[in-house]
Amino acid sequence: MRIAIINGPNLNLLGTREPNIYGTETFEAFLDRLKIKYPTIELLYFQSNIEGAIIDYLHYCHADQVDACVINAGAYTHTSIAIADALAAVRIPCIEVHISNVLAREAFRKTSFIASKCIGSIAGLGLMGYELALQYLIEQQHN
Ligand code: DQA
Repeated sequence: MRIAIINGPNLNLLGTREPNIYGTETFEAFLDRLKIKYPTIELLYFQSNIEGAIIDYLHYCHADQVDACVINAGAYTHTSIAIADALAAVRIPCIEVHISNVLAREAFRKTSFIASKCIGSIAGLGLMGYELALQYLIEQQHN
C-alpha cells in the first residue's frame, strides 16, 4: 500500500517552530520512526510552502495511483479553495491532520476548506495524529 503524507507551509520548521504548540520533534525524525513501525507500507512524503506545488503533488498522486493520503495543509487549510478543489478532483481517500487543536485557537483556524473533501479529520493529538490516520487507512484497506 502506498500512502502519501503531504505537509503544507511552515511544517518544514517542525522541531523549532513554536515548540509549545507543535512540539520539539522534526518531521524527518518522526517519519523515520513511522517507516520503521510500518515497514510494509510505502510512505511518500511531500512538503511545500507553495500552494500550487501542493496541488501539483496531489495531481501527481492521482496519476501515480497512490492508495491514500494524509494531509496537513497548514494555514492553507483555512484559505485554499484550490487545494480543496484538487482533493475533490483527484478523489484519493484522504485524512486531514492538524498537530494542534485548531478548534481551540484563533477563530480563523476553525474554518477548514479541506475537511469536507476528506474522510475525516484529526486535530490536537500532536504528531500522533498522522500515525492514527495511517492506522485507519491501513485497517480500512483490509476490510
Ligand atoms: C496546523 C494548524 C494551522 O492553523 C497552522 O496554520 C499550521 C499548522 C497544525 O498542524 O496544527 O501551520 O495545520
